[in-house]
Amino acid sequence: MSKIVVKKSKPLRGEIKIPGAKNSVLKLMAASILAEKECMLENVPDLSDVAVMCKLLRALGLDIKRNVKKSSMKITPAVEPSGEPPYELMESMRASVIVLGPLLAKKGKVKLSMPGGCEIGNRPIDLHIKGLMALGAKVYYGYMDDDGRSVITEDIVTLARIKSSNGYIVIEAPKEGLKGADIYLDFPSVGATENIMLAATRAKGTTIIQNAAKEPEITDLAQFINALGGKVFGAGSDTIRIEGVEHFGGTHYRTIPDRIIAITYMLAAVITRGEISLLNVMPSHFKSVTAKLKEMGVEIMEESDVMHIKAPQERLKGTVLTTLPYPGIPTDVQAPFTALLAVSNGKSVITENVFENRFLHVPELVKLGAKIVTDGHTATIEGVDHLKGAEVKATDLRCGAALVLAGLVAEGTTVIDNVFHIDRGYPRIEKDLQALGAQVERLDDQEKAPGKMSTSKNVGNEKHVKSSKK
Ligand code: EPZ
Repeated sequence: MSKIVVKKSKPLRGEIKIPGAKNSVLKLMAASILAEKECMLENVPDLSDVAVMCKLLRALGLDIKRNVKKSSMKITPAVEPSGEPPYELMESMRASVIVLGPLLAKKGKVKLSMPGGCEIGNRPIDLHIKGLMALGAKVYYGYMDDDGRSVITEDIVTLARIKSSNGYIVIEAPKEGLKGADIYLDFPSVGATENIMLAATRAKGTTIIQNAAKEPEITDLAQFINALGGKVFGAGSDTIRIEGVEHFGGTHYRTIPDRIIAITYMLAAVITRGEISLLNVMPSHFKSVTAKLKEMGVEIMEESDVMHIKAPQERLKGTVLTTLPYPGIPTDVQAPFTALLAVSNGKSVITENVFENRFLHVPELVKLGAKIVTDGHTATIEGVDHLKGAEVKATDLRCGAALVLAGLVAEGTTVIDNVFHIDRGYPRIEKDLQALGAQVERLDDQEKAPGKMSTSKNVGNEKHVKSSKK
């Protein structure tokens, strides 16, 4: 398996173009199931998760042609897609659950296994299922009991049991089709909002989702659905209204830029006390982060789709940081922020409010000399003067990004293992950072010693997907 080798680097300088958003494009691809004509997607990032979604959609009967060089993708929908996404693809990526909504809308019946995912929490799908049931869907579960007998039940408490290869969920629309409903989400779940929105696009009448997620990726999906001929109103607010329609066309659509990559690179500039510009960004998508960094003394200038970041030359002061659903500070940048605060001056406190187990990066940062103690949802950091390079492991995608950032300022060399996690969400992290002057290399498994620069040519290659777990 590849490793990423990071050496203590000079302040980052230069400019970098931000690719399309993973957490948007995966949903747009799945929403193409609804289409009746061809869809062209632009600004498609070259990521292993995108390769998994291609495989999944092909397995359902869609035809996909990618042009990786042009970051584009042509999707020809299936008239009769399969309603049974394969277990191994569901298991390899959490975002695979997003095919549920459009398949239910188009096919009326879906049989699927529990989606896999990064080990950042329990990650149930109860809110998705409750929303679909409110639209009239019947749901039942199948699994093997401890004596090897096959059980079929409507009891939702068995969800944990169906997390195996022989467990499944069947979701079925009534004969007369799904019917619009008023749905209140207990938590503004991104995935549940998306699945309910997608299923409701063809339901009869009006669906209202209250306490809906407001992330920019939700708005992007709503705009894509509307470009196909759907009727979704209010996305980006906490109340979304969907009017069911019978038919969809095709579209040509550009994915929004990846706000999490943009923030990661901002933090990379700040941790090295550098000065960089980000191109192809939407600064309005991460005002909470900009405000926090400005509060810490970072200079940030915005001009439409460009941002300039200039870090102060002295050590930043520690701060208090709380993750929240949008428009709060995204949970996905909590790990890279932890790396920054690990070398800031004084005490910092981070509270993680979205996932229950999202401090897996902490023990890895501690191996580099960080002083961090976690207690439930809180991490308390005593900023240290310097970190020291070591062998560490990306436990999940954003942990990997945090370790790369920490490696940029750690004395000596940091070697990061389990790089496939990073490849799920950053198309070319080592190349981007090299372009900004960082000493970062990818070491492919065939290579023997650090120092030999290798390319990231396998990233996004469909062969690469086996190791992809989100
Ligand atoms: C999306 O995950 C993103 N993934 C995550 O990005 C991101 O961290 C998350 O939204 C929050 O912004 C994709 O878009 C592919 P949720 P999702 O449903 O949809 C609980 C990254 O690093 N919950 O908003 O799975 C859940 O357990 C990733 O790129 C339920 O209890 O997130 C969690 O605690 C990781 N029941 C909270 O809600 C449900 O039915 C938020 O989850 C659904 C969710």
